[in-house]
Amino acid sequence: MKLGPILLSPIVALSILALSRPSNSLENGLAKTPPMGWISWERFTCDIDCSPGNQNDCISKQLYTRIADSLISKGFREVGYEYVNIDDCWSSKSRVEGRLEPDSERFGENGIKELADELHRKKLKLGIYGDCGVETCAHYPGQLASNSSLDGNYFDVDAQTFAAWGVDSFKFDGCNIDFVQAEQICPAMTEALKKTERPILVTCEWPFYLLRYTETKPNFEVARKSCNLWRYFDDIFDSWQSVMSVLDFTIKMQDTILQYHGPGSWFDPDQLVIGNFALSRDQALTQMALWSVWSAPLFMSNDLDKLHDDYAKILKNKKLIQVNQDELGVFGLMVAERSEQNGKSMVFVKPVSEFTNECPSFVVMYFYRSSLGNDFPVSFGLREILTKSSEAIKVAAKRKHTSADRCLERLNSNPTVIRGYKWEDLVEDQRGEVNLDEQLKLYVNPSGVRVIKLEELS
Ligand code: GLA
Repeated sequence: MKLGPILLSPIVALSILALSRPSNSLENGLAKTPPMGWISWERFTCDIDCSPGNQNDCISKQLYTRIADSLISKGFREVGYEYVNIDDCWSSKSRVEGRLEPDSERFGENGIKELADELHRKKLKLGIYGDCGVETCAHYPGQLASNSSLDGNYFDVDAQTFAAWGVDSFKFDGCNIDFVQAEQICPAMTEALKKTERPILVTCEWPFYLLRYTETKPNFEVARKSCNLWRYFDDIFDSWQSVMSVLDFTIKMQDTILQYHGPGSWFDPDQLVIGNFALSRDQALTQMALWSVWSAPLFMSNDLDKLHDDYAKILKNKKLIQVNQDELGVFGLMVAERSEQNGKSMVFVKPVSEFTNECPSFVVMYFYRSSLGNDFPVSFGLREILTKSSEAIKVAAKRKHTSADRCLERLNSNPTVIRGYKWEDLVEDQRGEVNLDEQLKLYVNPSGVRVIKLEELS
């Protein structure tokens, strides 16, 4: 589509206005860029057997201390991974005088506070887990006292407990509650956390259950105001199929995500399963690159002490992390796909913050979805893929407080206006130059990606 002189119709103007929404996200000053860290769920689930031989791997103070030490010694803290998040199964099975307590055998009486203090000394942060229903998904005490009612909930008392322990992040699950009522009930927990005056990052799962298991669409404005992160799809598993199911669902929702996702409040496609048992190196790189292009939270769930170097290298790729942490926080869209002889190729484009001549720079990712044959030359016209990312460019421009019109005009105008781009591969040491009207051709491994950054030649 060519753009003529830019006169915005009221509808376009309104939709651009709607994209700004800064005041509608949760304003607790946190998650200005996607948070990074580690979480126990996918790898360690609800393993509470701390008998000899399994003490390293059960949900206990020892596990989180071990991981904290490895984040530091293996260079993960240095590249930005800072949260150590406890998931389900940390508490005792019942409350004591109405209060939550950690399981004393696995954590010690004062274990969470001690863990938080230790992590803070190590310049890390501690996350904890709860549930907006009467029980967590693994049937530990939740924050609600009786089903579907606000009466007798534990929101304030638990928020005070978490703050007193020095917790920095709280994952609020949505099992064991009437999903439809969750939207009315659960946001009050965020208010309770705010009242403590301790900055606590909030991850919500309750919007997910509504989206997944009912006919009702969650109110994304409510989620955005109540949650720094919000899950929208099934739990990720340690399998390529699971990663691909997240991909498919995310692409279906991408136009909505683009509008509501950004500094302060992020859609969360769930944990990085890189370095566990299932993903090949190419598949692992694909997950890392996708999460980076999506500006998704980077929470690993793996065993850092058993991680093969190749996977550690993928997780610590500074250039990809920089893409993930780009200050504009734009959700990179899938802008083109094509059937190839042995599979399918897809292109993702994420506008990032360095602007030249009113246009952002771009991260372009090619994904070759195939499990047959050799690496394959994926090729798309550069002008086509950049112009197809116009909605993402509008979000980037809005966040940069510039107008997207001039940029879109330049991308659509005759070939001499934009001389071309220099490109840099963010994984392999390769670079080059490409003109706007050329085909951008890159060889991509099956199940693999190529990720390049394009900066306009001045
Ligand atoms: C749900 C969540 C998971 C994990 C488990 C814990 O399934 O989606 O991420 O927290 O509960 O029981």
